[in-house]
Amino acid sequence: MISNGHNSGNGPLKGIRVLDMTVWQFGPMSAAMMGDMGADVIKIEALDGDAGRGLWRASTLNMDLGEGRNAYFEACNRNKRGIAVNLKTAEGQRIIHKLVEDADVFVQNYRQGVAERLGVGYETLSKINPMLVYGSGNGYGPNGPDSHLPSFDGCGQARAGLMMSATTPGAEYPTRISQGVSDQMGAIMLCLGVLSALVCRSQQGIGQKVEASHLSANMWLQGLGISMSLLNEGRSFSSYDREAPTNPLSNLYKCKDGRCIQLMHLQPDPYWRPLARVMGMDDIVDDPRFTDMRARAEHAVDLVRIMDDKFATKTADEWDAIFREFEVDFIYAKVQAIEELEHDVQVVANDYISEFDHPVLGDVKMCNHPNKYSETPAGIWREAPELGQHTEQILIDELGYDWDGIKDLQDAGAIL
Ligand SMILES: CC(C)(COP(=O)(O)OP(=O)(O)OC[C@H]1O[C@@H](n2cnc3c(N)ncnc32)[C@H](O)[C@@H]1OP(=O)(O)O)[C@@H](O)C(=O)NCCC(=O)NCCS
Repeated sequence: MISNGHNSGNGPLKGIRVLDMTVWQFGPMSAAMMGDMGADVIKIEALDGDAGRGLWRASTLNMDLGEGRNAYFEACNRNKRGIAVNLKTAEGQRIIHKLVEDADVFVQNYRQGVAERLGVGYETLSKINPMLVYGSGNGYGPNGPDSHLPSFDGCGQARAGLMMSATTPGAEYPTRISQGVSDQMGAIMLCLGVLSALVCRSQQGIGQKVEASHLSANMWLQGLGISMSLLNEGRSFSSYDREAPTNPLSNLYKCKDGRCIQLMHLQPDPYWRPLARVMGMDDIVDDPRFTDMRARAEHAVDLVRIMDDKFATKTADEWDAIFREFEVDFIYAKVQAIEELEHDVQVVANDYISEFDHPVLGDVKMCNHPNKYSETPAGIWREAPELGQHTEQILIDELGYDWDGIKDLQDAGAIL
């Protein structure tokens, strides 16, 4: 089976070259998204490689796939070629400067000052290529006393308020969401920033530097809530309380088999009667405590108890079937775990998880690029590179080095 059937050469970023000097997840995922969209992404690593190659475990998941392959690195670096260059040598810097001449984008997510020390800061690269779009990911933003500090996923979740937003009232500790969401959000925002700067370049004829941070991205993930709080004189947004929600028709309920259903009727009044009917709550349909949204908010604790009892009489699949057969389209979803997603009919129908023929690992599945482009499809078409896999190819074919030149670079410790 090859890739996902998409034409890898025809994505929306076809013809865009990205130099991707990123590490771990935040930066690499942003460039992988550009690769999904058909950009020619060249990952630039130090001679000892992106530290993400060495991540052997994430929570309970073993990252080692055998054959020197690592699940974390594979997912963060698909759709890229790879070059290993020691930027602490003048020769190494020269290689990257030559690549920059013809590149559209340069992305990095090192700590503030690192790129400048390595001769690949924005000031230097924009002199070589003034039309360059330079993306930079960092922990807490480019300005301020903490702009130089290191940061990983949990730091972003903690500082941006995301952990508190995910925490059930009364819990002893804040909740840290798994799956690297804070890094992923940083990646998405960095990618968005780069794409906007590319549009700006084509409209206004200028290159520029665009910066995203864990703090900014994860604040923006909650941007509506933060803004609404600020518009309410800074009062904080209280955590969601399942037992006493403002709207019991937009609430989480546990079914007989322990699985949960999330009801999501934000305009609940038209749904009250049909829901009461379908759930066998005819006796309370006209109960004045529940007949409209305000009354239900006031008596939410009572209604949630009644609905808890009702949901507990059938499994989630049984409720799902009953809701689907009814003449009203109720707004709800069964709560699913990550392992269930590959079997979800919508995930399958929309290719949200894609199969890919990996030259070393065989057929593998990965989460696909999230957007569908009608004319220029995105997808997964290349495995993550081995360390320095394409160094020689790129030096010879694209920068005009010969084998003697390559030997000189090796002797100088600039490449492997
Ligand atoms: C990820 C992070 C915590 C790692 O911190 P770190 O391991 O201390 O690494 P730094 O970023 O400070 O520096 C990386 C080192 O690699 C070196 N390096 C990187 N690429 C190199 C190359 N091609 N050639 C030679 N050296 C290279 C740098 O010069 C630096 O070494 P130095 O300090 O001796 O100059 C930090 O980079 C960071 O906070 N980044 C911003 C937030 C972020 O993206 N976090 C990751 C989320 S997934």
